[in-house]
Amino acid sequence: MKLSDVEFRAMNSPWRRWGHRYFELPMFQRLGLEVKDKDVLEIGCGNGYGAYLLHSLGPKSYIGLDVMEEQIEIARREYPHFEFLVQDAADLSQFAPASKDVVVIFGVLHHIPEWRRVIDEIARVLKPGGSLFLEEPRGLDIRFFDFFFRWGHPDSDFGLKALEKHLTLRGFRFRKQWTPLLTMYRAQKI
Ligand SMILES: C[S@@+](CC[C@H](N)C(=O)[O-])C[C@H]1O[C@@H](n2cnc3c(N)ncnc32)[C@H](O)[C@@H]1O
Repeated sequence: MKLSDVEFRAMNSPWRRWGHRYFELPMFQRLGLEVKDKDVLEIGCGNGYGAYLLHSLGPKSYIGLDVMEEQIEIARREYPHFEFLVQDAADLSQFAPASKDVVVIFGVLHHIPEWRRVIDEIARVLKPGGSLFLEEPRGLDIRFFDFFFRWGHPDSDFGLKALEKHLTLRGFRFRKQWTPLLTMYRAQKI
């Protein structure tokens, strides 16, 4: 689902980049994120700053996708040499089964009511042994931002317990790291 105006501004602010670079990427690296010479897919890549960070780690290939044209326009303008698609993450049919080593999600599933389909698709496109790195907020924090800052997340049954249950159902083994705003996961396809 498209971002509300207020969240769109927040996602394109300098403090968001600061968190991305100095907090979230290092947390993923502590969980084992390595993309050197790997085929990487980023879901909900937004303005492309995640693409910039991931490219600095030397992937073999990178594709970032986002459903919001406005975000992909910014990403293409700022990083014209990287590959971005306007695409709903619930349909990854253009990617072959077992074609990606690493999938990265910086806070996106809580925006997608059909989030289970996204996990199903990721399970299909990841190679055996490949990893999904994802970070998501708790349901309580989503409601906090909606109540106080009117971020307007969609109605959804998304929650960390439901996420973990579905990851397990789809054959992922995961490790997680709790932080005050986001829980970070490394989910490995077995
Ligand atoms: C909270 S923002 C995070 C953006 C970026 N990953 C970041 O960390 O700055 C969520 C992103 O998910 C995208 N999104 C929402 N629903 C989507 C869907 N069904 N498929 C792909 N992207 C989606 C939004 O357009 C938005 O860019």
